[in-house]
Amino acid sequence: MTLAELNTIARKMVAKGKGILAADESTGTIKKRFDTIDVANVEENRRDYRELMFRTDEAMTKYISGVILYDETIRQKAKDGTLLVKIIAESGAIPGIKVDKGAKPLAGCPGETVTEGLDGLRERLIEYREIGARFAKWRAVIAIAGGAVPSYTAITANAHSLARYAALCQENGIVPIVEPEVLMDGDHDIDRCAEVTERTLKEVFQQVYHQRVALEGMVLKPNMAVTGKKCAKQAGVQEVAEKTLMVLKRCVPAAVPGIAFLSGGQPAEEATAHLDAMNKMGPLPWELTFSYGRALQAAPQKAWSGKPENVAKAQAAFTHRARMNGLATRGRWSADCERQTA
Ligand code: 13P
Repeated sequence: MTLAELNTIARKMVAKGKGILAADESTGTIKKRFDTIDVANVEENRRDYRELMFRTDEAMTKYISGVILYDETIRQKAKDGTLLVKIIAESGAIPGIKVDKGAKPLAGCPGETVTEGLDGLRERLIEYREIGARFAKWRAVIAIAGGAVPSYTAITANAHSLARYAALCQENGIVPIVEPEVLMDGDHDIDRCAEVTERTLKEVFQQVYHQRVALEGMVLKPNMAVTGKKCAKQAGVQEVAEKTLMVLKRCVPAAVPGIAFLSGGQPAEEATAHLDAMNKMGPLPWELTFSYGRALQAAPQKAWSGKPENVAKAQAAFTHRARMNGLATRGRWSADCERQTA
């Protein structure tokens, strides 16, 4: 696959008005989500829930550019025997796959992790491409705790793995989503988050360069610069938007086609408001969109609660959130939009 072809996929992933549905929760993570709605974490429920989203025509065709899947889901069939990946592709959205094997304790660095999964990755990418994936995701996790965390060791180890993963993806015709997530956990202020995010992104792009990753054929999935969840004084929407853009402009080359944020535990409406505020501050060198998990799925999950009779309600909730975020990619969202369509 040529760089022009990778670039075409990347641009489609971040097309204006649309964003990515992160539905790649591991079996352990989806259990946490199902526990909150009292749904048993069995394969049939995982399938029914995800099928419900992938069959939400309005959301999928108008507002979702791509879907990140977990290994189980990319091989799974809907109730009627159709492959879920086929349902996604027929809606016009691009199927993607989470390929990392999780964040594991980093030797010598208490409280910090490095994401594993490089061994055998080339072979797994070749298989996933045959099944239908055209992009992949690898999430690195950077914690903030006191003055010593994150360490230089953790930032460089994670940036190096992200870049190795991204190079392997491109070699095999797959667009890498490069996701270095600085966690919201902690009592730090927004400036500390911005400073750590800047340090992390600088290192990621340095490693991306050393590993010969083509910037035109990747998508960045960063956190926003936000206040730690336990900090008493929370920054407002405008400050989050300004500080996030300041960091991104300092770190992300204009050759990158797009940036698709994670929501990271932000309340759904806040994640939309932040994205909208940034897009109102354009023009920007890259597309700015969403690749949300919780901020897109919390409402439909609650509406569904595991009951077949709630499917239509859950689909309406999913369409609403997807539409709100679609408006935010154009800087055309307002709190009124929420009320008019809720
Ligand atoms: P959240 O939006 O829930 O943070 O999930 C996005 C994601 O894919 C994290 O890796």
